[in-house]
Amino acid sequence: MKKYLVDYTYQISKAQRTKRNKHKSLLIWFTGLSGSGKSTLANRVEKKLFDMGIKTYVLDGDTLRKGINKDLSFSANDRSENIRRIAEISNLFLEAGVVIIAAFISPYKADRLRVSQIVQQENYIEIFVNTSLEECEKRDVKGLYKKARSGEISHMTGISAPYEIPESPDIEVKTESETEAQAVARIIQYVTPKLKL
Ligand code: ADX
Repeated sequence: MKKYLVDYTYQISKAQRTKRNKHKSLLIWFTGLSGSGKSTLANRVEKKLFDMGIKTYVLDGDTLRKGINKDLSFSANDRSENIRRIAEISNLFLEAGVVIIAAFISPYKADRLRVSQIVQQENYIEIFVNTSLEECEKRDVKGLYKKARSGEISHMTGISAPYEIPESPDIEVKTESETEAQAVARIIQYVTPKLKL
């Protein structure tokens, strides 16, 4: 199939788009267990950046799995495909000059590595939301851990499916010992210089 495809020629370049936006585009990738606080942090970070005049958009597992990825399960293969599609979508947003804030469990190292390769390493910031399984299970905001323990849900990350801890994330947030405001401030401080043209 690939050999019958030709490269589309864009009239407007990424450079022109970022120049107009007055900032670079970037993918800020939150990884961590379900209920670790990824989405909360992603939303808080987006609000700060948005208020700074940055063009932003949030991609989140619970949302994307209801639409474009609704054909995918939580098997290892389907999670990989889930993450691959998000990476490709993010790549389009990056071309469009947008700062993408993504919140996905993304439990496999190889899948996260592929994200950074698809969007290119310099555009990728990895944030490990490090909340212990005990704490996530205690919070159990969506009631999924309870269901996983009773066997109602299979392939639950942390219970019946693995989570591979990031070895060298750009930022690690320990939600049990750091406030949300502190974590957001740290992330903004790290990200801001990278947005400069
Ligand atoms: S990922 O592993 O493929 O990256 P993703 O972030 O898209 O996962 O979706 C995770 C969300 O799906 C969780 O926050 C949770 O609400 C829901 N979910 C439903 N079943 C499971 C499961 N078996 N394991 C993990 N999350 C699940």
